[in-house]
Amino acid sequence: MEQEQIIREVTLDLEKVSNSNELGEVRNKYLSKKGLISGLMVKMKDLPVEEKITFGKTVNELKEKVTNLIESKRAEIEEKELSAKLESERIDITMPGDDFARGSKHPISIINDEITQVFLGMGYTVKEGPEVEEDLYNFEMLNLPKDHPARDMQDTFYIDETRLLRTHTSPVQARTMLSLNGKGPVKIICPGKVYRKDDDDATHSHQFNQIEGLVVDKNVTMSDLKGTLELFAKKMFGNDRKVKFRSSYFPFTEPSVEVDVSCGKCGGKGCPMCKGTGWIEVLGAGMVHPNVLRMSGFDPEVYQGFAFGLGIDRVALLRYGIDDIRLLYSNDLRFLSQFGKEN
Ligand code: DAH
Repeated sequence: MEQEQIIREVTLDLEKVSNSNELGEVRNKYLSKKGLISGLMVKMKDLPVEEKITFGKTVNELKEKVTNLIESKRAEIEEKELSAKLESERIDITMPGDDFARGSKHPISIINDEITQVFLGMGYTVKEGPEVEEDLYNFEMLNLPKDHPARDMQDTFYIDETRLLRTHTSPVQARTMLSLNGKGPVKIICPGKVYRKDDDDATHSHQFNQIEGLVVDKNVTMSDLKGTLELFAKKMFGNDRKVKFRSSYFPFTEPSVEVDVSCGKCGGKGCPMCKGTGWIEVLGAGMVHPNVLRMSGFDPEVYQGFAFGLGIDRVALLRYGIDDIRLLYSNDLRFLSQFGKEN
């Protein structure tokens, strides 16, 4: 039988093989069902019985040898292919990386996040409302009926008779209370953009940002408001800061106050930053007016509340010593990229 011949042929075929596909072809040629070796097995049935045993044995030995030859070639090829793959995917970790421009947080976002964190820590939740607001929520439900002179305190962009760009974040108070059907407690802050028909200059912008705060519960007093705002001022501006409450007027609160924080630049002695007064005005606040509670479905005999509103832009100007609010809105990357890189 041509055993030697087949082995030689396999060896020759394998010498020409350079990849696993070619190896597969060689394997098929000899070892598949229709391959050469199976062909020999088929021949066996025509042999006389005495020859069958030795023939079968020889073919089996041949099959084993051929398999061994092919498998050792497979190991060799797989190793070659693996190292070629590794070589082609080699990464040079000493190459300099691609640089890409990194953005930075806007100073208003930084301050907004900081203020929000302080109040979240005191158990408040964040509520938002629409910037295109109804006169009803922006004014009427806050005790500012049509033709009320105090509407002039906030020069308004009207869209039509009933809609406007909200002039403050206070309408979120009314919206939130209404949704609660007269059941407290309420403890929210409402950050957002507001709009006023002001001429832009270093201290005025027709668009700016506020955070409104509202607490409504049973037995809420002015001292709760004071304690809250004192804690807030110290957390935001530093433990050494003093807080002063000045009596003021807002239609939606009674009594109303404005809150000043001692000037961080001069420590309260008086400097250009605080216009020589030693104090910087930071927010407006007061006890929620009974009319406001009533209009939003809360019984003022049962519930009391305090509210406050502060300008985020103003806090950003103070914090970073920026002297022109317009810088916050002019999108000059040379200015903006100085802030918030660490985030
Ligand atoms: N809404 C006021 C404003 O924009 C700020 C304010 C004052 C809000 C007193 C309040 C408050 O909630 O109690 O001028």
